[in-house]
Amino acid sequence: MNPTEFEAATLPEGVAEVVFDAEAIGATTDRLAARIATDYRDRKVLVVGVLKGALFFTADLARALQRAGMAPDQITLDFIAVSSYGNAHRSSGEVRLLKDTSESVEGRHVLIVEDIVDNGHTLHYLRAVFGGRGPASLAACALLDKPYHRCVEVPVEYVGLEAPDEFVVGYGLDYQESYRHLPYLARLHPWVYRD
Ligand code: PRP
Repeated sequence: MNPTEFEAATLPEGVAEVVFDAEAIGATTDRLAARIATDYRDRKVLVVGVLKGALFFTADLARALQRAGMAPDQITLDFIAVSSYGNAHRSSGEVRLLKDTSESVEGRHVLIVEDIVDNGHTLHYLRAVFGGRGPASLAACALLDKPYHRCVEVPVEYVGLEAPDEFVVGYGLDYQESYRHLPYLARLHPWVYRD
């Protein structure tokens, strides 16, 4: 049994199907890192992961940037934590800042790293916050995108994969703080999140 077959045979309760396995996530991360390393070849980048969802993707992207040829002193890692108010599976558009970066972004080349851009409110808020702090440049990278859900237009310079119109968990994405630790992205059974 290969790892993918093993995952499918041992899906946790509530998980219907693996949508993107660890191999697909890794290949996507490497593809994004190659583009970013080329674009930032002469610059230092402040990589800002958006907690909690982008925890794993930020770590893996930073290591992929190193493999793609970026020098150790070209990459600084930081994190910001935000949360969007909303019901179980759709955010309301109100974004709350829970933890700010520890680095100053003024004069820096800032790359915001998101696990997913859905209706766009979170990234729109973050671009406004960072944009008001005088960065040298500002760009965003998202592993997953749901462009068909967008409520607010927001640029995403680096997009990994288009997510299906399903409730997706794993690799940082949660349902009520569960499932984040799964090494793949998976679709939940609707009975989990429908009352
Ligand atoms: C999720 C996700 C993004 C945001 C995207 O975070 O990690 O940050 O929603 O949604 P949007 O485009 O509709 O605004 P969430 O607020 O659920 O917090 P979490 O990362 O801690 O799970």
